[in-house]
Amino acid sequence: MLEKIKALREEIASATASSLEEVEQLRIKYLSKKGALTALMNDFRTVAPELKREVGQKINELKNFAGEHINSLKESFATAEDPGLEELDLTRTATPGCVGTRHPLSLVKNEMLNIFASMGFTIAEGPEVEDDWHVFESLNFPPDHPARDMQDTFFISRNPADILLRTHTSSVQTRVMEHAQPPIRIVCPGRVYRNEAISARAHCFFHQVEGLYIDKNVSFADLKQVLLTFARQMFGPQTKIRLRPSYFPFTEPSAEMDISCDICGGKGCAFCKGTGWVEILGCGMVDPNVLKACGIDPEIYSGYAFGMGIERITNLKYKVKDLRMFSENDVRFLREFESAH
Ligand code: PHE
Repeated sequence: MLEKIKALREEIASATASSLEEVEQLRIKYLSKKGALTALMNDFRTVAPELKREVGQKINELKNFAGEHINSLKESFATAEDPGLEELDLTRTATPGCVGTRHPLSLVKNEMLNIFASMGFTIAEGPEVEDDWHVFESLNFPPDHPARDMQDTFFISRNPADILLRTHTSSVQTRVMEHAQPPIRIVCPGRVYRNEAISARAHCFFHQVEGLYIDKNVSFADLKQVLLTFARQMFGPQTKIRLRPSYFPFTEPSAEMDISCDICGGKGCAFCKGTGWVEILGCGMVDPNVLKACGIDPEIYSGYAFGMGIERITNLKYKVKDLRMFSENDVRFLREFESAH
């Protein structure tokens, strides 16, 4: 009897099947009512009483073994022929799709452009790889004038023509003035490049929105009112502005504009270095030389221009302390702006 059990175990262990039907045949052969194991059980009656215990145990073990072996053969087909169908749970909640968020600089840029659009400005764009004429020469930077050092330029080629990465989007203003006659009222958003050491406060590229308005009888008062309206819409109606005299080759007179510190409300804090004011932009009346260079008669027309960094405005609005975060593409940072949409 024990011999028989051993032989049957070996037979079952070596049994293989090449389809689900063959597995079923194996099950019938060994485990059904007419199968080999039932036959063994019938023989069990004839076993001598002192051997019954041992033989009974062996038969049970064999039965378990046969069941497991046949099941595992069956499973190998289930996964091959019907991938995971049994595990498909149609009541499970769908995996949430991951929707991207707008970059904080895009959000702020759009907000800025919307404010200027509401005051009648249209959007103009131009190339990032520029020539010396559009970035410097036409804007009243004479060759070798030290003012060119104000903007550390990345030069691409000096010969034959001076090709460089634009250091400000004022180059777009030149491009528009070359081809259009006043009235011109545009804002120029875009990326600009300067050869600066990268730190929390400076980067070798950043983004600007610059504005230009040229018409008859445009005055500094018009400029001031437009900038005040912008500051109040961007930072809230309580915002104050102040203009300090400054210098740019392409504007005369020139000024820099501060707004009352949004963080401490003007009382003085670390962000505004205790002054209660933060600088946000440069501006001025377009220099007559610039108008002349672009084919606009300064005896008839006058205009103003202003320019500001989008990163700076974003820092003020969202208190981002490190400029590098804007270009690192860390999704944990970018997701912070999900609710700002
Ligand atoms: N182009 C200047 C800059 O990049 C900003 C500016 C624009 C200043 C227009 C005055 C008028 O710093």
